[in-house]
Amino acid sequence: MNVLAIETSCDETGIALLTITPSALPKAIVRENLVASQIKLHREFGGVVPNLAKREHIKNLPILFARLQKKLRAQNIPFTFDMIAVTVGPGLEPALWTGITFAQALAKEYKQPLIGANHLEGHLYSFLLPPLQKKITPPKIQFPAIALIVSGGHTILLKMDSLVKWKRLGETRDDAAGEAFDKAARMLELPYPGGPEVEKLAKLGDPHAVEFPRPMLHEKNYEFSFSGLKTSVLYYLRDHPELLKGARAAKGRADIAASFQAAALDVLVAKTARAAREFDAKSIILCGGVASNNALRMRLRKAARAEGCAFFVPERRYNTDNAAMIGLAGYMATVRKKRYPFRANGNLEI
Ligand code: KG4
Ligand code: ZN
Repeated sequence: MNVLAIETSCDETGIALLTITPSALPKAIVRENLVASQIKLHREFGGVVPNLAKREHIKNLPILFARLQKKLRAQNIPFTFDMIAVTVGPGLEPALWTGITFAQALAKEYKQPLIGANHLEGHLYSFLLPPLQKKITPPKIQFPAIALIVSGGHTILLKMDSLVKWKRLGETRDDAAGEAFDKAARMLELPYPGGPEVEKLAKLGDPHAVEFPRPMLHEKNYEFSFSGLKTSVLYYLRDHPELLKGARAAKGRADIAASFQAAALDVLVAKTARAAREFDAKSIILCGGVASNNALRMRLRKAARAEGCAFFVPERRYNTDNAAMIGLAGYMATVRKKRYPFRANGNLEI
């Protein structure tokens, strides 16, 4: 079946068309996956401005929809779909509404059913997505699996008993991992979004230069907290103003970026590995925007191997927000008989 998918939860407008072959491990072909990023627009404000995001989504949706049809036509792929999936949450509500309204209008025009998708389930399933236009059997995954979802808004550990059954082990009590990267970046006077910038700068620095705290590392639970780490970076920079200006600044800033990243990753990797051990997991899944971080991918892959687990991480283009993952999440919601109301829900949980 063909699924048309729409994503507008934050600052990327996404439209995708997928062909999904139903099976216990669904096979998908991503026909097209178009993303219009608003990063440049929000950059001057140092973060996402919800009403600007809304305005851009309204402008971009019809443009992307027309581009999708044109691209398919150019490849002789018929533009037909049996279902429309749209993100209903979590995310910025004014932004989510634009996608929902657009999808509802398409459902009416094309007389096809509409299904609500959970953005976090999109991230969770994104490791099953093959490269664009490739027909590849999805990786066989064994359960139980531990999934670490790390994005700009969430840091969640799940224990999965199957693709459709999971339990939340823990989440962040304050800032999300991506949010901490973004805030540390702002303190280091790096542009938004900060994650990729911090990672780039960290490569030039010494991760042992500054001993930042590893919040909740030794607590016997699966909760996270990143606001203390963020505050430590703030205090360190306040006490060492010469690191932002002057001759030592380049090395000093790189050391802070590397030390901050090492502290954040230590906690993420250690807690995920401990969950794998405790629940005798056979697989570890890493997903969400922060899964683009190479150091995190490498460290968690190594930790998975040490725990005897297979490691799954999405192809790079599917880590950050996109509509292909929403198509799969929408399809999986129908498999789980989960019906999300067509109402923007900023706090929708997984
Ligand atoms: O999943 P995503 O695109 O949007 C949300 O659902 O939130 O994640 C965006 C987050 C941002 O906080 C961004 O800074 C972070 O992912 N991120 C990274 C990297 N690339 C993106 N964080 C660390 N290292 C990266 N390379
Ligand atoms: Zn996301």
